[in-house]
Amino acid sequence: MAVYYTSRSRYQNKRFCVDYWTITRTCFYRFFETEPDMKALFPKIVQMNESNQLEWQMDRDMLQKHAVTVMEGLGAAVESLEDSDFLNSVMVSIGQTHVRRNVKPQYVKKLWPSLHYGLGVCLGDHYNKEVSEAWRKVYIYISAQMTRGMKNPNLKTNDELS
Ligand code: HEM
Repeated sequence: MAVYYTSRSRYQNKRFCVDYWTITRTCFYRFFETEPDMKALFPKIVQMNESNQLEWQMDRDMLQKHAVTVMEGLGAAVESLEDSDFLNSVMVSIGQTHVRRNVKPQYVKKLWPSLHYGLGVCLGDHYNKEVSEAWRKVYIYISAQMTRGMKNPNLKTNDELS
């Protein structure tokens, strides 16, 4: 499956030449612009200024923290596609922590168009139909595992997953 990796290690190996922070920022700017209701979940990250515009500099570190974590999570998912037990347990457990943040499964679904947009902007011609479809499938898979964790907040990830 042709996937252009977004993880930092791949970036450092120069397998692709997109600035890691650019793709992360593009995706999350887009997300908060197209899904303004989601901003309320990140009070430390995004605030509105007096003109009702996003105040991105408010706490760039916090934005970076979540955005990079998401992208690293996706990178790790791609890298562990061969080890579904490990991948499932990580994603289920991330889903479980998101329940405590009031994040619902449909919110995770809402992130895909922004990620798709960010990948398209940053990968340019490399983000062809095949690559885009590969990413879409990976995202559907990890969203399903996160959703499983959200719906089963007490599920023990070590022994009940396959
Ligand atoms: C693939 C998708 C995602 C991944 C891999 C991911 C991963 C993470 C991780 C690892 C953390 C830090 C640990 C924790 O507190 O649980 C986190 C925090 C958080 N996530 Fe996500 N996340 C994803 C999608 C989302 C979405 C779609 C939303 C909301 C719309 C969201 C909202 C939050 C919030 C509010 C926090 C807490 C941030 C803070 O500490 O201020 N996440 N996420």
